[in-house]
Amino acid sequence: MKVLVTGGSGQLSSYLFEELEKEHEARGVDLREPVFDSAKGKVDIADIRDAEAMLDICKGADAIVHTAAQVSVQRSTEDPAFDVETNVLGTVRTLKAARDAGVAKFIFISSAAVYGDPHYVPVDEEHPAAPLSIYGSSKLSAEYFVRAFGSSFGMKWAIVRPFNFYSPRADPKSPYSGVITKFTQNAASGLPLRIEGDGSQTRDFLHAADVARLVRLTLESKRDGLTLNGGSGQATSILDLAKTVKKVCPRPVNIEHVAPRTADIKHSVAKVERAREMVGFSTRISLEEGLKAFFSRTV
Ligand SMILES: NC(=O)c1ccc[n+]([C@@H]2O[C@H](COP(=O)([O-])OP(=O)(O)OC[C@H]3O[C@@H](n4cnc5c(N)ncnc54)[C@H](O)[C@@H]3O)[C@@H](O)[C@H]2O)c1
Repeated sequence: MKVLVTGGSGQLSSYLFEELEKEHEARGVDLREPVFDSAKGKVDIADIRDAEAMLDICKGADAIVHTAAQVSVQRSTEDPAFDVETNVLGTVRTLKAARDAGVAKFIFISSAAVYGDPHYVPVDEEHPAAPLSIYGSSKLSAEYFVRAFGSSFGMKWAIVRPFNFYSPRADPKSPYSGVITKFTQNAASGLPLRIEGDGSQTRDFLHAADVARLVRLTLESKRDGLTLNGGSGQATSILDLAKTVKKVCPRPVNIEHVAPRTADIKHSVAKVERAREMVGFSTRISLEEGLKAFFSRTV
């Protein structure tokens, strides 16, 4: 299959190019040049909000994996209109370009943020979608446009809702980086790991390489209209995460507690049976193994 990956210079896409290289021909589009080897030489520079450029770029593709996004909850709160421009308008422009170019299948990388504060855990795909953040709202809105392009134009589609994914390829300089990037960065530089509150809040962490494999399996599936959680199914408390980082880090690590974040989601973990049943996905990289790689740079 000829696959266009939007956000081709990003973290997830770098693993996607590796996943796709055996059986497929993948190219990317991004605002910036790629830094990862798997993506180098494969990414065109354009903005997903640019309708004309996107039409040209989509021509000849059989499928699109749409990962390009404004990815930060914090930034979405600071600049909601920018979030909507990228995540909603950018997705609609990409969908329209895909449709006009005759692309058959569209995989949208959404987020578990669409669920908001879970009413129950593990969160299955039928859990009510009630996002708390601007980011979650723009991702949910984009999901509806993906479905509507499917019903209006017969475009095949799938939605993947990753929970928290991580890898050593996440940008450590970003002020919006996730907890694993912050913990491993601090541990490697001899700074304490700062836990907000008592650390009993839980999250579902999945290595980005596993997310990429789930995306490939979804892409290759004959099923249309799938919505799949992307998670490990394992709830990990932030305190346990810090202890695991301490365990695998080759230098001494201190753990500190600071004031809790207001309005933080207490527990979040994915129910992952649907991804297993529908596309045969299961996690390959355990959290401990994934964390070790931050200190040995092997994954
Ligand atoms: N990291 C997580 O834990 C997580 C969890 C759930 C969902 N997601 C989603 O997964 C996807 C990939 O995340 P990632 O961690 O690889 O992010 P990333 O920031 O590494 O990659 C996103 C890429 O999109 C590009 N991009 C942004 N705006 C663009 C535009 N207007 N035109 C073209 N390219 C543009 C960026 O330059 C970047 O290279 C995103 O859609 C994100 O919302 C991430």
